[in-house]
Parts: sequence; structure tokens; C-alpha cells
Amino acid sequence: MRIGILGSGLMGGKLGTIFSRAGHEVVFSYSRSREKLEMLAAEAKGKARAGTPREAAQAADALLLAVHWDRMDDVLGQAGDLSGKVLLTRSLPMDTDNTRLVVANTTSGAEALSRKIPKARIVSAFNTIPSEVLFDVFEARLKGAGPSLLYCGDDTNAKAIAAGLIRDVGFQPVDAGPLTMARYTEPFALLIAQLAYEGALGPEMAYRFEWMATSGGPSPRLR
Ligand SMILES: NC(=O)c1ccc[n+]([C@@H]2O[C@H](COP(=O)([O-])OP(=O)(O)OC[C@H]3O[C@@H](n4cnc5c(N)ncnc54)[C@H](OP(=O)(O)O)[C@@H]3O)[C@@H](O)[C@H]2O)c1
Repeated sequence: MRIGILGSGLMGGKLGTIFSRAGHEVVFSYSRSREKLEMLAAEAKGKARAGTPREAAQAADALLLAVHWDRMDDVLGQAGDLSGKVLLTRSLPMDTDNTRLVVANTTSGAEALSRKIPKARIVSAFNTIPSEVLFDVFEARLKGAGPSLLYCGDDTNAKAIAAGLIRDVGFQPVDAGPLTMARYTEPFALLIAQLAYEGALGPEMAYRFEWMATSGGPSPRLR
């Protein structure tokens, strides 16, 4: 397949390299350095080349969009008409500091609750898995690492208590950070609900995050 990369940074550079090594014909585009695009194409070792966004886009069977949100209008303008194109977007609508989504929730249920009872030490937990899986996880808890479970909150001691309880049920607690992270864990819970209740495999489901051990890997520029 011919794949056009619009934005050849951390994500686009790596995914383009992997797509090329998997046998696809890749065009790397949109960088401040043409030399970098040429290097990426050379290191990708397949049928990869450097090009302009327009070249990457117009011949592509699929496009990967991987630019910062504030570069979106520029890269789209350079790519030209994308009518009918298959476009995979990796881009998240982040603010300039990469600290928050600019097209998204600005609060959460957990934060609203904390405003109602400001002296309570609130932890958002157990809301990202369907109830149907709880007994299965509990019964399997001694058979090895259980599924992950996200939690977040502002009070360290309250979070330690929550983590212990999460472990007691059979999950591996994953600290998502302060209570404001509920802005993201709550929509994630709806994604899980969609998979559980609308998916083909039923609601006895959980999720697991994996941290891969670092090894030699690709060149430092691609890390
Ligand atoms: N990195 C992650 O782990 C991750 C995870 C999930 C989602 N995302 C999302 O994926 C998107 C891409 O992230 P990233 O980390 O790959 O970004 P990045 O490393 O900053 O790459 C962005 C690309 O855009 C190019 N660019 C920036 N300004 C430019 C300009 N004025 N003219 C031409 N090219 C320009 C950069 O050029 P240079 O080559 O010159 O730097 C780079 O190739 C973002 O929306 C991000 O939110 C990233």
C-alpha cells in the first residue's frame, strides 16, 4: 500500500519507518528539514522516500496525519484536496504547551463532586470496567497479574487506600495522576462501556496496560 506521512516527527517518523519495514511504500513529508525526511527514508530501508505533503497525499492509498494541532491548517493547506482519502489521524487537539486538550471536556464528574464536598478526599476509581467482570477478576486474582484499573485523585493517602482496594479486587492499580485526569478517565469509561455492551464479545472484559522493557531499539532520533 502507498502510505503518505504528514508530519514526520516522533510518531510519524517511527510509524512511517515501521510501515516501510512492513513492506509498504512510504512517503515521509512535513518537516522543517528536508534532510531529515531523506534520512528517515534512507533508514526505513524499504520503498520509502521523502516528498512534499502534496506528493505524500495525492498518490497515497492511506495517509497518516501526525502533526501538532497548531500545525493542522498549514499541513492540510500544503497537502491539497483530500476528498475521498483514507486518513488516519494521530493528532490530538492539544494546546501549545501540550498540557490539555483544547477540543474536549473542561471538567469531570469527579471534579464536580469535589466542589460539592470540598473536604472529602475524592479518588475516581472502578468506573472504567463493567460490573460484569468483577467476580471473574476477583476469582482469578491469585493466578498472576490481573488487568489494569485506572484511578486518579489529589490526596496521596486516599489514593493509597484506593490502590489497596483495587489490588484486593484483583486489578493492578494504575495511578493516572490528579483528579483533573477524570476528564479523560470518564470518557475512557464510556469507550469501555461501548466495547462491553455494544461489542460482539460481551461485557466480561477488562483492559491491561503494558510497559515494554527498553532495549537497543532504533536510532536515538527515532526514540
Ligand atoms: N508523541 C507521542 O507519543 C504521541 C502520542 C499520541 C498522540 N500524539 C499526537 O500525534 C501528533 C504528532 O505528535 P509528535 O510527537 O509526532 O510531534 P512532533 O514530533 O513534534 O512531530 C511533528 C512533525 O511536524 C513537523 N513540523 C512542526 N512544525 C513545522 C513547520 N512549521 N513546518 C514544517 N513541519 C513542521 C515537525 O518537523 P521537524 O521534523 O522539523 O521537527 C515534525 O516532523 C500530535 O498531535 C500529538 O498530540 C503523539
